[in-house]
Amino acid sequence: PPLAEILSLHDFEAVARRTMGKRGWNYYSSGADDEITMRENHNAYHRVWFRPRILRDVGKVDYSSSIFGFKTSMPVYITATALGKLGHPEGEVCLTRAAAEHDVIQMIPTLASCSFDEMVDAAQPGQVQFLQLYVNADRSRTKKIIKHAAERGIKALFITVDAPQLGRREKDMRTKFEGAASSQQAQGGDKFKRDEGAARAISSFIDPSLNWNDLADLKEAAGDMKVVLKGVQCWEDAVRAAEVGMDGIVLSNHGGRQLDFAPSPLTILPQVVSALTSQGHMNNPARPGPKFEVFIDGGVRRATDVLKAIALGATAVGIGRPMIYAMSTFGEDGVSKALQILKDEFEMNMRLLGAPTLSDVVPSMVDISALGNA
Ligand code: FNR
Repeated sequence: PPLAEILSLHDFEAVARRTMGKRGWNYYSSGADDEITMRENHNAYHRVWFRPRILRDVGKVDYSSSIFGFKTSMPVYITATALGKLGHPEGEVCLTRAAAEHDVIQMIPTLASCSFDEMVDAAQPGQVQFLQLYVNADRSRTKKIIKHAAERGIKALFITVDAPQLGRREKDMRTKFEGAASSQQAQGGDKFKRDEGAARAISSFIDPSLNWNDLADLKEAAGDMKVVLKGVQCWEDAVRAAEVGMDGIVLSNHGGRQLDFAPSPLTILPQVVSALTSQGHMNNPARPGPKFEVFIDGGVRRATDVLKAIALGATAVGIGRPMIYAMSTFGEDGVSKALQILKDEFEMNMRLLGAPTLSDVVPSMVDISALGNA
């Protein structure tokens, strides 16, 4: 179908399923084991209902926001997904350019198909980019990457902590990997194992011994860049991340690609925010200073999903698969359209919710009594 007939983020997935190459589709769409967590990520949003307010002046609706003080047109960022060229010959620069058009932030993946510098060079002056970091067993490599990121103007590092070993994605394992990564990490790391699917083939350098004691060193290397743990999955670790001086966390289970039966991030968001708040790490007027920020990703397909997360205390939400399905099917134009769809959805749904700005999207606007634990 022509791009004009795409009405929602779901539509990109439906087109991608029919038109993408098998290798790319299997890599992008797969989740771990029985894909229970992957499905639950999205399904959890169906158990949160709004409590809309009426008769508020919603003539003007403003869904702009900021992440660590950096402006974003909406509380959404394009999260890191590896191997963009499995979906589109130009790869991740399609995401970079569409992000620029719409003033949203792109998180660059360590294992991109395009090189890090290509993605930074594709950005407009002043465009904010973050970097997702897999920590290499050879720490000098990781330090080099961090230093280079700082020099190239990256504003925040997202250290992935949910992947000491890549999850078992059987759909992906059924397609042989032939090499689509041009990442320095992947090239310089162990040689590809051709029979383990794309994910496993490129990830053997990731250090499973990474632990809490390593963070001070990484934080120091990061200098002025914010440091965020991506892949936190319970409130105890969220509190600990704040205590050891991280700037934020992403509640994430890697899009259901790691531990199957990890909880959906939305399900744990209320308890995480409550624990952080009661321990003085979030929204505490008694302790001014940089605020610890909580992000979530996984299964977000509509602005209403994002608004639920915002109501429950998230700063912003990461979107993965819909962006790379949009890229794979329509290139940069597709990603741009996906972002425009979200903007239109924000405008309408905030109006219907009775929330002219995001600060009006408060906990009492959602009913989580059915959210439960799955
Ligand atoms: C990912 N994700 C991911 N995360 C990460 O930290 N480093 C990575 O290299 C990748 N690669 C990757 C590839 C693909 C194909 C997918 C689908 C996902 C996880 C990603 O950042 C994010 O957590 C999820 O994609 C969010 O879920 P949705 O939006 O895809 O449902």
